[in-house]
Amino acid sequence: MYRHVLITGTTGSGKSRTASIIAKRISEELNIRVVILDWHSEYMYLLNRYKVVDPYSNPLQLFTGDPNDISVISSVMELTPPQEYLLEKILRRVNLDKLRSIDALLDYVENYPEESNWMKESKLALHRKLSLLVREKYNLLFKLQSPEPVKKIVSGVSSSEPNVVDLGKIPDINVRKLYAGFFLKRIVDAFIASRTPLVIIIEEAQNYLSRSQAIKPLCEMLREVRKFNIGLIVISQSINQLIEDATLNTNTKIIHSVKSREDLEVVAKALYLEYNILTTLPYIEPGEAVYSTPTIKKPVLIKIE
Ligand SMILES: Nc1ncnc2c1ncn2[C@@H]1O[C@H](COP(=O)(O)OP(=O)(O)OP(=O)(O)O)[C@@H](O)[C@H]1O
Ligand SMILES: [Mg+2]
Repeated sequence: MYRHVLITGTTGSGKSRTASIIAKRISEELNIRVVILDWHSEYMYLLNRYKVVDPYSNPLQLFTGDPNDISVISSVMELTPPQEYLLEKILRRVNLDKLRSIDALLDYVENYPEESNWMKESKLALHRKLSLLVREKYNLLFKLQSPEPVKKIVSGVSSSEPNVVDLGKIPDINVRKLYAGFFLKRIVDAFIASRTPLVIIIEEAQNYLSRSQAIKPLCEMLREVRKFNIGLIVISQSINQLIEDATLNTNTKIIHSVKSREDLEVVAKALYLEYNILTTLPYIEPGEAVYSTPTIKKPVLIKIE
């Protein structure tokens, strides 16, 4: 069974560099596949060997019939319950195989018959929110049909070097979140189905797992996937912004320098830190960290190479 890892610390404390070293080791020494959700497109500079996954050449299927798909869209686009209900209803009615593009789905939403006043307003709002998906080149990121076979997804992930998903190429933050959320979901589902071990590095995890706007199916994933040999490495500047599950479900923690009082409080509680270690945390150098894992008794101060 895999363990999840949490890497946290203030900006510039060395989180991404630490994660890149872990990625390299897991891939080269353990021969386990590694996928990096590279929020800021920086791992190409941190790693010597990698395979780039360009989102624009890897469109993801939006609706597979899994109710969690709607839940992902709903959290990212902040759909209200009536808007979410309407989307569900429309998707039950429409024959997605007959629609050629997301534009066609938007037309379908626009022309969907209104049964009441609330529906009219929700429909307009839903249409407006979804229309983000056809702006810029974003329609290349998503597709309505042709699910990728599990085998193809798994074999598309390189086993000899870390796979870097170049999310920074997507300018709009919500579209980036949506793409990343669906990528995570599709890849986890495929690897569970094929029983292939996988490690996923989630940079800037507050975009997926924040207390204020968590993507529900991804929170559940954090609790469930370990038993399927999928390990998550969750990275965030602020442990305090993350849902509690991110702290509870990661048994290994690498805490780089933490400066904010709120974050220090959460760290102190989560790791049962001794006072003398806690008081040095704001002052340690980039690359230094407190390391806590179940196989060692007490958290220790370490220096990443
Ligand atoms: N192990 C290390 N040893 C020496 N210097 C390091 C180490 N790790 C990081 N640094 C220095 O700190 C800088 C910031 O590192 P990094 O980008 O990994 O931080 P970060 O915590 O990911 O920051 P951000 O929150 O902005 O993403 C690096 O450019 C490097 O100069
Ligand atoms: Mg970083």
